[in-house]
Amino acid sequence: MTSSPHLLSPFSLGDLTLENRVVLAPLTRARSGVDRIPNELMAEYYAQRTTDNLLISEATVVSPQGIGWQDTPGIYNDAQTEAWKAITNRVHEAGGTIFLQLWHCGRASHSSFHGGELPVSASAVKIDNGDQIHTPTGKHDYETPRALSTEDVVAVVEDYRMAAERAKAAGFDGVEIHSANGYLLDQFLQFKTNQRTDRYGGNLENRCRLLLEVVEAVQTVWPASRVGVRLSPNGAFNDMGSPDYRETFLHIAQQLDTYKLGYLHVMDGLAFGFHDLGRVIN
Ligand SMILES: Cc1cc2nc3c(=O)[nH]c(=O)nc-3n(C[C@H](O)[C@H](O)[C@H](O)COP(=O)(O)O)c2cc1C
Repeated sequence: MTSSPHLLSPFSLGDLTLENRVVLAPLTRARSGVDRIPNELMAEYYAQRTTDNLLISEATVVSPQGIGWQDTPGIYNDAQTEAWKAITNRVHEAGGTIFLQLWHCGRASHSSFHGGELPVSASAVKIDNGDQIHTPTGKHDYETPRALSTEDVVAVVEDYRMAAERAKAAGFDGVEIHSANGYLLDQFLQFKTNQRTDRYGGNLENRCRLLLEVVEAVQTVWPASRVGVRLSPNGAFNDMGSPDYRETFLHIAQQLDTYKLGYLHVMDGLAFGFHDLGRVIN
């Protein structure tokens, strides 16, 4: 008699065999200090949460341009890459598997993180939900971001590729591309924040281009089964939500399916803010 899979039964994720189906969700902890270098406190945190399971790391910025939260870790220099090794070692010693979540905040940032330069986005559309942002100089209103030029977007893709390489050097088992919660990649996907007229904007196919180019760049470093993508079709966080969200996210899910990635990580939006542009079906 075969038994049905349950929470503590093994699971194959591509070539990885996970001893159970318990996964730690990516959770920003903001414990890396101003240099954004992982540390012993973080190693302890991840080790405490490892019992032969999969962990997705906290969101980790792929470049200085991607910064938008205080004290969150990075994966764009040698010191950060080296410091992550202590964490991946601790997780592996405990029998765990850990993916690094790759992050670029885009417009969900502030000029005080960038030496006075405006944060960047798909288009010059600011977060307008009455919230403020915590910055090194206190809480401030959001600013209208600078729209990335076409050449700038190509450079962003390269930042993701390099971060994926560093993740490998740091001993991670895979990477999750953070394209949810109103951060840069989500800002390109959604009509609300993407009003571009170049090949990265306008129609749906163009709006998906940046994410797909990032997936392809990351796949030059990692096999497809070691790459996941996170989306949040229903999310209101960071002032997101576009009327064509069903069409947009069905299309992107179909596109992502062709890459045979390890997994698609979909937030339902109910716990994290639902945009109310559609009906919740229970
Ligand atoms: C404090 C906090 C930090 C979070 N940090 C991240 C993050 O770094 N990356 C991410 O994709 N989601 C992040 N999330 C969202 C969680 O991964 C999770 O999806 C959310 O809490 C909703 O829970 P649920 O998915 O079980 O409904 C965070 C949530 C909280 C409360």
